[in-house]
Amino acid sequence: MKRNVWYSLVVSIIVMATVLSACAPAATPTAAPVQPTQAPPPTAAPVQPTMAAPTAVPMQPTAVPATVAPTAAASQVEIFSWWVGPGEADGLAAMVKIFEAKYPNIKFVNAAVAGGAGTNAKAVLATRLAAGDAPDSWQAHAGQEIIATFVQAKQVAPLDDFFAQTGFANVLPKTLLPLISQDGHPYSVPVNIHRSNVLWYNPNVLKAAGVTANPKTDFKTWDDFFAACEKVKAAGKTCLALGAPWTAIHLFENVVIGTIGPDKWVGLWSTPPTTDWASADVTKALANYAKALSYTNSDASTMTDWQPASKLVADGDAAFNVMGDWAYGYFANPAPNGLALKPHTDFDWAVSPGTYGVFNFLSDSFVLPANAKNPAATMAWLTVAASKEGQEAFNPLKGSICARTDCDPTKFSEYSQDAAKDWSSNTVVGSLFHGVMAAPAWVTSIGTAIGLFQASKMDAAAQADLQKALVAACSSDGTCK
Ligand code: GAL
Repeated sequence: MKRNVWYSLVVSIIVMATVLSACAPAATPTAAPVQPTQAPPPTAAPVQPTMAAPTAVPMQPTAVPATVAPTAAASQVEIFSWWVGPGEADGLAAMVKIFEAKYPNIKFVNAAVAGGAGTNAKAVLATRLAAGDAPDSWQAHAGQEIIATFVQAKQVAPLDDFFAQTGFANVLPKTLLPLISQDGHPYSVPVNIHRSNVLWYNPNVLKAAGVTANPKTDFKTWDDFFAACEKVKAAGKTCLALGAPWTAIHLFENVVIGTIGPDKWVGLWSTPPTTDWASADVTKALANYAKALSYTNSDASTMTDWQPASKLVADGDAAFNVMGDWAYGYFANPAPNGLALKPHTDFDWAVSPGTYGVFNFLSDSFVLPANAKNPAATMAWLTVAASKEGQEAFNPLKGSICARTDCDPTKFSEYSQDAAKDWSSNTVVGSLFHGVMAAPAWVTSIGTAIGLFQASKMDAAAQADLQKALVAACSSDGTCK
């Protein structure tokens, strides 16, 4: 019954989610309420993904067409994302190309705002929504990022008709459906599945430093990794490349999972938590986190985004970088956006230490605004985003795998083919920083605590303060009583 755990987890975190309604427009979704999906009783085990047919979603009429004929009247569609930077823009461009071929009468307006992980885009979007100036569709992560914000604030409309008429639910991985649904209504169209817990490395740096441990098999614990770091450090290189401040939160989630394991990770976000934030397990994870940070480049805080950290690895200045698999696109895509590096020779990959057999995932998706200005154009975009053709164009360049079960593996890199196998066989857990596990306000509190920690000595006293701040963040969210 492991799969059911995911459903109960999601339902639980939906119930406790912070309502961020400050910038909610007055509109309500077009669908009438239906019977909520029944959640099974919670258990402590993490979810196993299955690619089997998903739970049926109750269908309801919505005010917009589910698909749009290519002859749709001339209009435009403004699509908001943060896919601007090297490696990120390529996938979007490939999907836009398909959109433009299918809908020549609809002008694609790219409203992307630079800044990895949406660091700038999310603030710009919030301002626009507050001003009643919603884009025609925007990028949002499946999970609490959608449910606790846009759905709660009634800023997005349900997509029951779209799902019914396109049959999208039949090909959407079963894990994703509850993460984009409220009361049985789907609210977004997932376009991919990314993996957060990837350890990218430069095999030449490891060789030169005399590291004989194989990252693909030998980093069972963070201590194993730190032993390799000692050698890299002695060779005068940075062991673990770190980028802009948000990447420290990305690292944090993967250190915690790699220390306490997937079951206890899921337990941190359950209502009430089955893993105590004040426990010795978390203390150990924070000690590992402090140690991991001690091996990072001292100029991390001046880095503009995630790419400069990945570039340290590519250039042979650093050995490792823990980053999501969007980095694959940056390493491998052709210039000018990609570095055109050769897999296994110029760069290689493993999962982050302590996470063999674990897939820490996130999923990008697109929404239909409530009171959409150009609903037909939005639906045209969603049709491409959901389609096999659109996803097979987008994902190989983005480094992600399809949010569909029927994509052709031969269109994907060796990396992505590996990821697809792991997705369907590993223990799947959700990312904190990329929207799956916690409401955005909770993520922000954790990020603030981590920022303060980085500015401290990061010694035992600072680790204890960080743990207290994490306990307090859980209480402020309402999940910890
Ligand atoms: C994530 C997003 C990815 C990628 C990454 C780095 O939040 O889901 O698609 O854009 O940020 O910018």
